[in-house]
Amino acid sequence: MKIFIDTADIDEIKEAKKWGIVDGVTTNPTLIKIAFEKFKDKMEMEEYIREICRIVDGPVSLEVKGFKEDEMVKEAKILDKKFNEKGNVVIKIPISTSNDEPFEGIKAIKRLEEEGIRTNATLVMSPTQALLVARAGASYVSPFVGRIDDYIRDKLGIKYGKWDYYDYNMIKRVEEKMLEMEGNIPELYKKKAGAYFSDNGLYSGVEVIKSIANIYKAYNFKTKIIAASIRNARQVREIAEIGIDIATIPFNVLKEMIFHQKTQEGVKKFFEDTVEEYRRIFM
Ligand code: E4P
Repeated sequence: MKIFIDTADIDEIKEAKKWGIVDGVTTNPTLIKIAFEKFKDKMEMEEYIREICRIVDGPVSLEVKGFKEDEMVKEAKILDKKFNEKGNVVIKIPISTSNDEPFEGIKAIKRLEEEGIRTNATLVMSPTQALLVARAGASYVSPFVGRIDDYIRDKLGIKYGKWDYYDYNMIKRVEEKMLEMEGNIPELYKKKAGAYFSDNGLYSGVEVIKSIANIYKAYNFKTKIIAASIRNARQVREIAEIGIDIATIPFNVLKEMIFHQKTQEGVKKFFEDTVEEYRRIFM
């Protein structure tokens, strides 16, 4: 599984690049807003984004801001022209920008890919959306794992912090218990489970990724899956077990992935136990 860093913060990108495990970068307008705050007195926005694209060797996703197909295509070409010096820019297109005209994103993706501009379909929350993205020929699809969990947790009335792991397997067991206790009546199931514990039969962002991976495999779609909106290391592990192409991971979660208390303790103990004779070997 390739690892992208999910940030627009140049300092974080530079630091992670030194670790040698980062294959690309994903940004969005929110990430740019947060990161640019630190740099806005030092440089212009265009210079800032150009710098990100220069630092990174792999794909850098930059998002359009428009809602209509023509607008998005035009903006994609501007981003491509201004920042694609190294040929690593990928254009992020929101899958669906309005309920009245829900296919604008899909149409923009199809056109751009036909014209040789790589796209990353963003804000994808379901396997059926991902299926349409693949049919439109997108290079990448970004299902938002954490936001899907947020949606289900909100519906369930569960309180959580942004980076908290969502134990959906436990929720499934709770659902089973409730049905056992209250009787498996179709109406009750619909109320308590079908439209409540899950989102269209999927209980978490990880399950959405699993479903998309199965669909893509079944039809040999070439669109690469980028698991996005990642919240913690346990979620990364569950996604990696599915065997998808890429996970885009925030800086703090990358740091969480390397940490284990027993590793730190072990290092300390080995250091303390290094006898003089052993030290001398390295001189
Ligand atoms: C990256 O492609 C997405 O824009 C990003 O992962 C969204 O993450 P968030 O849900 O934590 O904002």
